[in-house]
Amino acid sequence: MTDTSSPAPRTAPPGCPAHPGAVRLAGLEYQQTPAQLYRALRGKHGAVAPVLLDGDIPAWLVLGYSELCYVTGHDDLFARDSRRWNQWDAIPPDWPLLPFVGYQPSVLFAEGDEHRRRAGVITQALEGLDQFELARECQQIADRLIADFAGSGQAELMSAYAHALPMRAAVQMCGMPHTGADTQRLVDDLRISLDAAEGDDPVAAYARVGARIQELVKEKREKPGPDVTSRMLQHPAGLTDDEVVQDLISVIAAAQQPTANWICNTLRLLLTDERFAVSVSGGRLSVGEALNEVLWLDTPTQNFIGRWAVRDTQLGGRQIRAGDCLVLGLAAGNTDPQIWPDSHVGAENAAHLSFSNGEHRCPYPAPLLADVIARTAVETLLERLPDLVLSVEPEELTWRPSIWMRGLTALPVEFTPVVQ
Ligand code: HEM
Repeated sequence: MTDTSSPAPRTAPPGCPAHPGAVRLAGLEYQQTPAQLYRALRGKHGAVAPVLLDGDIPAWLVLGYSELCYVTGHDDLFARDSRRWNQWDAIPPDWPLLPFVGYQPSVLFAEGDEHRRRAGVITQALEGLDQFELARECQQIADRLIADFAGSGQAELMSAYAHALPMRAAVQMCGMPHTGADTQRLVDDLRISLDAAEGDDPVAAYARVGARIQELVKEKREKPGPDVTSRMLQHPAGLTDDEVVQDLISVIAAAQQPTANWICNTLRLLLTDERFAVSVSGGRLSVGEALNEVLWLDTPTQNFIGRWAVRDTQLGGRQIRAGDCLVLGLAAGNTDPQIWPDSHVGAENAAHLSFSNGEHRCPYPAPLLADVIARTAVETLLERLPDLVLSVEPEELTWRPSIWMRGLTALPVEFTPVVQ
C-alpha cells in the first residue's frame, strides 16, 4: 500500500554548526511520500534524527516507537512549554510554524499541575457528551451537506464534506447551532485561521474566532446549556473566562483538521483499495477496519511539534541539550520496523501513536468522539450515495504539501444524482 522507491533525504549544507548532517524537512518530494522519507531517515540516522525545520532551524525528529513513548511519557524531561526553546533568537516574526509553536496560555502549553487542572476540565466536559446523540447530530449535519451536492452527481468531498462536517460538529458540541449565518462565519474564520488559502488573512480570522468564542462564553455564563462550554464553566476547578476561551479554541482546532483528514484518508482508502472494493457496500472489510488502518498507515497528525528538553539528556544515542525541540514523528513510530519486524504493518489493534501518548495525549474521550464523528461521516455518505466512485484515477489524487498533516488536496467523486 505504500511506495517502495526510496529518495535520499536532502541534507543541510556541510558544516551546519548546529546539526551536522541534519535533514531539511521542508520539500515537496518528501511531502508527497512521507513513508519513504521516514524509512530513509531511520536507515541513516536511527530512531532520533537531526532535522532542519523551515528557515533551517534545528530540531530532533523522534522516529522510534519506544523513543516516542519515552519522550511523551516523561514530561518532567521533555516538556510542552515552548518558551524553553533555545532557538527563539533565530525565529523571525513571520516564521510559518509560529502558530503551532508560539506559546499561548492554553492547555496545549500548560505543564504539571496546571496542565492536569486544564486537561481535567476538558476531559470531564467532553465526557458529558452522549455518543449516541453526537452520532445523531453528525448524521443530520452529514445529510444537510450531502443534500447540497447530491443532485449534481459529483462533488469535491474534501471541502464540501470532510472539512465541513467535523467543524460543524465541534461548533455544535460547544453549544452553537450547526447552521445559520453566525455559525457559518465562525466556521469560515476557523478554516482560515487553521488553514489559510492565498489571499486569506489568518491573523484577522483568528482574532474574530477569539471574539466569537468570548461572546459564546459570556452567553453560556448567563444561560448554561447541555454543552461542552457550559460544563467547562461549571467545573469545580473554577477556570476563568479567559482560560475557557483559550481551551475551547484549542478543543475546536484540535478536533477539526485531524478528524477531517481521518474522514478523507478513510474515504480514499475505501475508494481505491480493492480489499474494500467499491461499490463499498460490496467490500469485504468494514468502515471500522478502514478507519483503524488509516490511523496506522496514513495517520492525520504525521508529525507533532513538539516537546522541549528540560535539561541536557540522551535519547536514542543522541546528545540532547536543554531547550532543544523534539518533533514527535507519530507516523514514523506507527511503522517502526522494531515493532513490525517482518515489515507487515498490522492494523488489528489500537496500539498506534496517532493520538500521541502520555500526559498531553489527545484527552481520553476525544478519540472516541472523533471516531463517532468520522464513522458517522463515512457511513452516512456511503449509505446515501451507494455507487460513489472516484472521478479521477487514484494516482491523480495529490497530498497536501505538509509534513505535519496527511490529507488530500481534493477528493473528486461522482455518483448517480439523487433527486431530493
Ligand atoms: C473530537 C475530536 C477531537 C478533539 C475534541 C481533540 C482534542 C484534543 C485536545 C484538547 C488536545 C490537547 C491535549 C493536551 O495538550 O493536553 C489534543 C491533542 C492531540 N490530538 Fe486530539 N482531538 C480530537 C481529534 C483528534 C484526532 C482525530 C487525532 C488524530 C487521529 C488527534 C490527535 C491528537 C494529537 C496527536 C494530539 C497531540 C498530543 C501531544 O501533545 O502529544 N486528535 N486533542
